[in-house]
Amino acid sequence: MPRVSFEHIVKRFGAITVLDGLNLAVDDGDFLVLLGPSGCGKTTLLNLLAGLSDVTSGRIMIGERDVTDLDPKDRRLAMVFQSYALYPTKTVRGNLRFGLSASKLPKEEIDKRIAWAADMLQIGPLMDRRPAQLSGGQRQRVAIGRALVKHADVLLFDEPLSNLDAKLRTEMRLEIKKLHEELNPTVVYVTHDQIEAMTMATRIAIMNGGKIEQFGTPDDVYERPANLFVAGFIGSPSMNLLPATVETGGRARLADGSLLDMSGYVFDTTPPAGAELVVGLRPEHFSLVANVDPACRLDLEIRHIERTGSDAMLSLAFGDRRVVVRATPTETSRLKSGDKIAVTFPKDRLNLFDAGSGRRI
Ligand SMILES: Nc1ncnc2c1ncn2[C@@H]1O[C@H](COP(=O)(O)OP(=O)(O)OP(=O)(O)O)[C@@H](O)[C@H]1O
Ligand SMILES: [Mg+2]
Repeated sequence: MPRVSFEHIVKRFGAITVLDGLNLAVDDGDFLVLLGPSGCGKTTLLNLLAGLSDVTSGRIMIGERDVTDLDPKDRRLAMVFQSYALYPTKTVRGNLRFGLSASKLPKEEIDKRIAWAADMLQIGPLMDRRPAQLSGGQRQRVAIGRALVKHADVLLFDEPLSNLDAKLRTEMRLEIKKLHEELNPTVVYVTHDQIEAMTMATRIAIMNGGKIEQFGTPDDVYERPANLFVAGFIGSPSMNLLPATVETGGRARLADGSLLDMSGYVFDTTPPAGAELVVGLRPEHFSLVANVDPACRLDLEIRHIERTGSDAMLSLAFGDRRVVVRATPTETSRLKSGDKIAVTFPKDRLNLFDAGSGRRI
């Protein structure tokens, strides 16, 4: 399965520039997720790869082939749409077959592929039904099956799970991931759901306003966000982002006057005393028990506790801001709004950003 690359891609709709010189490349067999807020250009980029829309300038390569000006049908890719786009009057078998009808494959080969996809996706018993007689998840499987039978080099998905309920989404996520592990196609998958991105991707491109803010593995973007946009976007609840000023001796001072020990942090560039930072503290990395030699200890008043069953989210007053801390229900069973508590943060989990540029330092 080939590598896919976008080179200096510009896409304009009239006077609107949606993509402005975008570069991105994924290796063969990678599962690339394009992740970003609504309107950032994910579908636009996917449609350019699929050939459903033309680039204004730039080049798209699939393996050694320049596909920029090729017809969609000559690009050897298959796409699963958010709407599934099944033919309502055709049966499941007819829908699967339709994807191959233009292929001039012998009938035996077509039947073999349909049987293989049906088996793989466990839709064998549904072959004679029409889409209206299927559940959302079953329709979704047929749409994937129609893409699989093409034996395409590259599989494209545009938000394929967004019409499903939460439980089905989780199941389908696992199934698509399993499919990728078994067949190992190159996948480009669009979503604005970060759980989908984190669980399925081998590489994530985080997009914002037509630009790529960070490209890396799920661990990279979670552990080492490249800038404040990624830091705030990845993680739920979001990373706490607090302003601080660098002092001498590898320390910084937070807005409430407490000190931050940065000695456990690996700087790309060490900031001088007086530099303004933003300190990123993930809710799940705080500790309610005394932590020996932490990066910081905050004494804060509880504003609100939200219990979700598995977690307890503490919302703590920090001047006119909030600090959110994720704890367990057991740890917090005796706590209530108005209590003052101490929380500590480990040295090796800090994220530090330059307040001016927003970049990781
Ligand atoms: N045909 C078009 N004409 C003008 N503007 C367009 C056109 N198609 C898309 N856009 C604009 O391009 C930007 C990116 O759109 P795109 O559909 O790629 O976003 P997206 O990241 O897929 O968002 P969503 O998560 O909502 O699907 C948006 O601002 C959109 O309004
Ligand atoms: Mg879209």
